[in-house]
Amino acid sequence: MVLVRGNSWQLALASRLPVEGPAHTCASWPAGHAVRWALDQPEPAAFHHVPVLLEAVLEGLRPAPGATLIDATVGGGGHALALLRAAQPGGRLLGIDADPAALAAAHARLTAAGLPPGSFVLHHGRFADLRAIATAHGFDTVDAVLLDLGVSSHQLDTPQRGFSFSAEGPLDMRLNPTGGPTAADLVNRLGEHELADLIYRYGEERASRRIARLIVERRRQAPITTTADLANLVLRAVGRGGRERIHPATRTFQALRIAVNRELEQLEAALPQAVELLRPGGRMAVISFHSLEDRIVKQFFRAESGYGGSANERPPRLTIITRKPIEAGATEVAANPRARSARLRVAERCA
Ligand SMILES: C[S@@+](CC[C@H](N)C(=O)[O-])C[C@H]1O[C@@H](n2cnc3c(N)ncnc32)[C@H](O)[C@@H]1O
Repeated sequence: MVLVRGNSWQLALASRLPVEGPAHTCASWPAGHAVRWALDQPEPAAFHHVPVLLEAVLEGLRPAPGATLIDATVGGGGHALALLRAAQPGGRLLGIDADPAALAAAHARLTAAGLPPGSFVLHHGRFADLRAIATAHGFDTVDAVLLDLGVSSHQLDTPQRGFSFSAEGPLDMRLNPTGGPTAADLVNRLGEHELADLIYRYGEERASRRIARLIVERRRQAPITTTADLANLVLRAVGRGGRERIHPATRTFQALRIAVNRELEQLEAALPQAVELLRPGGRMAVISFHSLEDRIVKQFFRAESGYGGSANERPPRLTIITRKPIEAGATEVAANPRARSARLRVAERCA
């Protein structure tokens, strides 16, 4: 056990470091700067995130005993735990996440579940590198891949992460807070036209030009550094839209988060790698939370399944299992409002 000065969360994390031949392989997590970042954080509230469409994911991916699984967005480990349990005896899971805090939570959850030693491995990384990460851990051919996109409730509800306009925090929005430009960097450095395009393209915000103009005017006086600064600016630019049910800043925040984390590029890069990792008959499931993501998944599945005589030269590699995306029912949405916008698509690798 390494002894680290710090609060109880830091000590708890340190006690989970793989220094004594831990029961669960955790070879590449937490590593280097990610550990240092995690150890520097104030004690967080307990990780909270309810996995969405859990039953549908299990039905779609059909994990059988002995299955080899990848959860490329392991988050707090909710889906991962259910999948791995269903794959016992003999099942193994590789969990990937860009956020070291999520990995700490997933590690705690999977460890506490008393799964067989060596049945899971967690990796700090991004799913655009899916194939390299998987092969590095011996997951060359797998039975199922899950991508549950976006952010967790925990990330959204932690003001210091800067994802939400409803609580004041630094304008950060990085899934991996150990590096890369923040939302404040974009808001304070991009030109007015670039900002307007970004907000329009990733937020589908019709008032993007007005918002960008106000941002540029305001930052001439002082940089925009907090979520509240930006939310108030957007409110001034667009007003309190009459019949709109969402906060006026929702679309601008979504746009910045997508840009900061290059979310669409990550998804486009990961999808073909997931197909290549699947054995014939293996399945992939993708849960998306907005139309830009869902469109990418839908078009990818269609192209890979030869839908409508698609122009693809090679034979189809996928069979679409969900003709229409699966959505949460009223009971799930009532219990977990975040499930409201979730869309699940599943496809199977052809022989
Ligand atoms: C909706 S949460 C997943 C929750 C998880 N299924 C559970 O049951 O707890 C999405 C997770 O994906 C991670 N993530 C998003 N984009 C990523 C990327 N490109 N690479 C790796 N992880 C990513 C986020 O950090 C977040 O923890």
